[in-house]
Amino acid sequence: MQAVINYLKQHQARAIEELCAYVRFPSVSAQPQHRADLRACAEWVVKHCRAIGLQARLCSTAGHPVVVAKTPRAGKPGARRPHFVVYGHYDVQPPEPLDLWTSPPFEPRAARGAIYGRGASDNKGQNLAHLKAVEAYLKTGTPLPCDLTFVIEGEEEVGSSNLTPFLQQHRAELACNAIVISDTGMPSPKHPALTYALRGIAGFEIILRGPAQDLHSGIFGGTVDNPAMALCQLLGKLRDAKGRVAIPGFYDGVRPLSAYERKQFARVPFNTRNYQRLLGVPKLFGEAGFTPVEQRSARPTFEINGLTSGYQGEGSKTIVPAWARAKVTIRLVPDQDPVQVIRCIRRHLAKLCPPSVRLELKERSYAAPYLVSPTGPQAQAALRALKRAFACEPVLVREGGSIPIVNDFKRILRADALLLGLSLPDDNAHSPNEKFDLGCFAKGQLMSAYLWQELSRT
Ligand code: BES
Ligand code: ZN
Repeated sequence: MQAVINYLKQHQARAIEELCAYVRFPSVSAQPQHRADLRACAEWVVKHCRAIGLQARLCSTAGHPVVVAKTPRAGKPGARRPHFVVYGHYDVQPPEPLDLWTSPPFEPRAARGAIYGRGASDNKGQNLAHLKAVEAYLKTGTPLPCDLTFVIEGEEEVGSSNLTPFLQQHRAELACNAIVISDTGMPSPKHPALTYALRGIAGFEIILRGPAQDLHSGIFGGTVDNPAMALCQLLGKLRDAKGRVAIPGFYDGVRPLSAYERKQFARVPFNTRNYQRLLGVPKLFGEAGFTPVEQRSARPTFEINGLTSGYQGEGSKTIVPAWARAKVTIRLVPDQDPVQVIRCIRRHLAKLCPPSVRLELKERSYAAPYLVSPTGPQAQAALRALKRAFACEPVLVREGGSIPIVNDFKRILRADALLLGLSLPDDNAHSPNEKFDLGCFAKGQLMSAYLWQELSRT
């Protein structure tokens, strides 16, 4: 084991350069013009996996390709060794708005002990940490106590819809004891975390259509409805004064928080003033009766992600816009049923929509919430690995973000996900100036190295 640790230390500088090379690919899965960049990025991952001694291949899907890479199978043939799948994603969120980046998003730069660039933290740096750990085993000839298969996909940020059939097709090859995922956060560098729940998600576009085309607002305004105004009024009715989502049935199935859980949440370090400053808001806002830690991880929400209508250019233009559109996502918690909630939303919007505009609701993909017991032997092994690597007592957390495929891992492979995130709250994931802390990178590699020892003992 000492050889592995020494190797990781000695090769940090190169690992950082490799992270930069990885981040240089503009692998934005939401934008069709980046299709070739996603493929090039996936090919880079395959090449990298081969260089460190893995057997790697690129698998085509109906969308962006999936990288599958395995450790050379050791042990006696036919003997059953523990097998773990390491999941990650090489796609990234759109970098816009570009003018808010202090350096270009796909020209990674080292500063203040971190690498800046879109995808550095979510998720390239985190999955590369696992690759570096396995490289250390393979290059030092240290026997791994288990078999590993890496699955690094290119559509996580758009819902992973093509990965589900992929898992079905490869279920025999991917049969495993657990899925290890570093694609979540830790509350601070001194609080390594095991995440035992994620929120689910469902996305929509709500479009209101009025006149056949934009109209002169002086000539026609006052006689026809304004779709932008109608949309604002409609959306305004979806939240009450207490910060609750005002859609009948929305909270059906929400599991109340137990006293034990609330006590655990209260242990997560949280400072309102610092949090406010970090986010740049004048005051926090959230559902009454819950703490911010509870609000953002264990309560469902309704968010407008984008709002578009009418003239967006410079200066003014006096029109009644032909349409207005909101891009929306809801976050779901156990045991809300996405299909049920979507039905409630559809019904309620239809009821609220005035006859003066036409409502169109486009559904995007959805994913159910995820919850796993944090007390099992694998979770305990993961906590030991975190503690050894970070030399700090780890915390158990629930996270508000979503990893759509975790439920399919459970359903298809019947394996739990161990969520061991390395992202810090100020990493700016999905925001301008995303970064990945180099301390988290190095300790994440160590954690991964220890993890295989700890897990294989269970
Ligand atoms: N890494 C995140 C998920 C995450 C972030 C979980 C922080 C817990 C804490 C992941 O890459 C992500 O952003 N997922 C999307 C999924 C969506 C686009 C379907 C999300 O949560 O918005
Ligand atoms: Zn993300």
